[in-house]
Amino acid sequence: MNKVLILDFGSQYTQLIARKVRELAVYSEIQPYHYSFDKIQQDTAIKAIILSGGPASIYAADAPHADARIFELGLPVLGICYGLQHIAYSLGGEVDRAARREYGRADLWFEKNDPIFKDMKQPTQVWMSHGDHLTQLPDQFHTIGHTRNSPIAAMANSHMKIYGLQFHPEVYHTAEGKLLLSNFLYNIAQFQGNWSAESFIESSLQAIRQKVGKERVLLGLSGGVDSSVAALLIYKAIGSQLTCMFIDTGLLRQQERTEVEEVFREHFHLNLISITGGQHFLSKLKGVIDPEQKRKIIGNTFIDVFEKEAKKLGQFKFLGQGTLYPDVIESVSFKGPSATIKSHHNVGGLPEKMNFELLEPLRELFKDEVRAVGRQLGLPEKIIERHPFPGPGLAVRIIGEITEERLEILRLADAIYLEELRSANLYGDIWQAFAVLLPVQTVGVMGDERTYENVLALRAVTSTDGMTADWFEMPAEILAKISNRIINEVKGINRVVYDISSKPPATIEWE
Ligand code: XMP
Repeated sequence: MNKVLILDFGSQYTQLIARKVRELAVYSEIQPYHYSFDKIQQDTAIKAIILSGGPASIYAADAPHADARIFELGLPVLGICYGLQHIAYSLGGEVDRAARREYGRADLWFEKNDPIFKDMKQPTQVWMSHGDHLTQLPDQFHTIGHTRNSPIAAMANSHMKIYGLQFHPEVYHTAEGKLLLSNFLYNIAQFQGNWSAESFIESSLQAIRQKVGKERVLLGLSGGVDSSVAALLIYKAIGSQLTCMFIDTGLLRQQERTEVEEVFREHFHLNLISITGGQHFLSKLKGVIDPEQKRKIIGNTFIDVFEKEAKKLGQFKFLGQGTLYPDVIESVSFKGPSATIKSHHNVGGLPEKMNFELLEPLRELFKDEVRAVGRQLGLPEKIIERHPFPGPGLAVRIIGEITEERLEILRLADAIYLEELRSANLYGDIWQAFAVLLPVQTVGVMGDERTYENVLALRAVTSTDGMTADWFEMPAEILAKISNRIINEVKGINRVVYDISSKPPATIEWE
């Protein structure tokens, strides 16, 4: 599949560029700025290059530089912010510390006849975020756009199809940014636009069959969207050569196991083995209150159970996993590995321990693309839209010791909470919503009786990646209804509170 290569100079927006390009039905791939020139030259699927922004100053001693020979390949190039400065630096222009830093919205006046601005309004609003700016164009380049503070806000060498933009077309605040990217992809780089969930499924079915051959694949199915889509895709490719294992840790939400079994075993007829591990996990967790210790115990027990049960199922050459593109980029990107959700990975350690080869068919996809693939494969909306759920499950939502009784209280309350969010049509507006059972008892009255029971906290946050989050502004009447139902219906809870902390400084989970 033809693609755009995005060289990453460390911008916080690099992934956004990749996603916007894919939304425009063109496949894109991110590589670090120092990606080997030979590899670029040999990869005939690369039909255009985008140079991302980045925080460095181009003349700084440690500034990142890509191999300048990329400009001689005859490929269309789009440099964004630092990318523009990099083009200028490599091809003989000049960059200076801006007299005025430019940050925020600006009006861009542009060269109407240039195909990169086709159908755009004059002036058009763009988003600036830079210190340095261009003072002299490289040879054979001309200015195609300016703002009040940037005399050269866009430049081009139309003959070589090399473009530089001082602003960020990938961000929301650049009003016609998507149109501009589309113009670059379709009018300048001549892409066909054939990247879609269907085309992905088609090519990945072939790739899976080719890689797996006649071997068997084992996949740990959690019921989350990533492992569910991975399972269905692999199943579609190799059918009964796939075995899925669902481990019921006893720390799951109400109905979770039944739902997974219904969808995958009864509806899709996958070969699904469910393991009842509840008592085993609970006994290991007895008396444990430290959150990290809980995580460690659950993680290790999970691997032990998985290993033991897998042995009973015979030989498997491959372990299927729902690894996504953001995890993959993390390990190759400019910035190097950083602390993310991934460090919590449930089955980490399994492949090394069990000598599996990995089969990760979603490695190239962003989360929204995984959802699109899931829909295309007929996965029920309930699974596709499911909020993330941590591997250690309810164990990190019961503060203090975990007991069967406390699990039952939390399960009931959590189910009511989610049911009400769904019926108020709020579930989809929220990144994650859940209840937390506190190790605090407070006084209440019910009828004529004094009660002394548990406090339950409700949490709901909005987020795009779980790295930062805002607390969700829940309508008061919905909170009232949820609180009322929980206190009336769940024995053991007589007080409900709502968490109004954002991340940072708080985290999403309480433990
Ligand atoms: P925090 O609480 O760190 O959570 O703000 C960020 C995201 O990660 C999830 N999370 C986990 N996922 N195992 C997991 O698989 C874990 O131990 C774990 N801890 C937190 C959390 O639910 C949120 O989506």
